[in-house]
Amino acid sequence: MRIISIIVYMDRKKTKAQVLSQGILAEGIMDLRLLTDFEGEVCPGQFVGVYTRSEARLLPRPISICEAQKKENGLVLRLVYRIAGQGTAEFALLGEGAHVDLIGILGNGFPVDVTAGPSDEGLPGKALVVGGGIGIPPLLGLTRALTENGTKVTAVLGYRDSSLFLANEFRQAGAEVVISTEDASAGIKGNVVDAMRENDLTADVLYSCGPLPMLKGVKAFASENGIKAYISLEERMACGVGACLACVCRTEHEDPHSHVCNARICADGPVFAAEEVVL
Ligand code: FES
Repeated sequence: MRIISIIVYMDRKKTKAQVLSQGILAEGIMDLRLLTDFEGEVCPGQFVGVYTRSEARLLPRPISICEAQKKENGLVLRLVYRIAGQGTAEFALLGEGAHVDLIGILGNGFPVDVTAGPSDEGLPGKALVVGGGIGIPPLLGLTRALTENGTKVTAVLGYRDSSLFLANEFRQAGAEVVISTEDASAGIKGNVVDAMRENDLTADVLYSCGPLPMLKGVKAFASENGIKAYISLEERMACGVGACLACVCRTEHEDPHSHVCNARICADGPVFAAEEVVL
């Protein structure tokens, strides 16, 4: 297996985007497509900051990029987000043709080349893509990037109930899909770690995004099974642009400049090697 990690960064800029469409994927889960003038490549796991119109809410709301597609007239970003407060409730009212201010492209993203293509033995690399709740959307673009590389992907998707938003799109992207639900309405009853154990899943590399308790379980599962893991801590972000310091997490190693074991999730992440961060 080739071990190459390439993370693509784009220059951050503030811009005005146009709403191409907005739909509802499940109760409280919105599917927004925006036409932007961002240039360059988007790495799965990166995010944008979306500004509200309210002067009382000056800081942008960070929302991960579900998918990005280059078109002749610009870069189309698909944002799948949960309505979780006044800011996101305002975004949910944006209709086709409306304009919204964005800052982006932010964050580092997942290193998709870790299992790129056939291994040294000629076998495809295997990846586990593990998402919970609103941590699922950024993993769809990641799954497409991995399957296009020739990587075999098993997506383990955890939901509260049978909403199962995006699950079919993971299948269409070439992944085998394993579902878990907390209320046992679909797939395996329990969480994503229960689903991985029950199916004896393993891989060369694991990527995960979701709520913190889930990430703790995923990190422990990867460590027990000797799987290299990358986790996105996007759930712990606030402003997303380095202004509020609400996102600091503890790291295993001291930063050589500040001499503290801290990292800002929005500026240094949101994706980290699991063994690098203390959850
Ligand atoms: Fe505000 Fe990182 S989220 S500084």
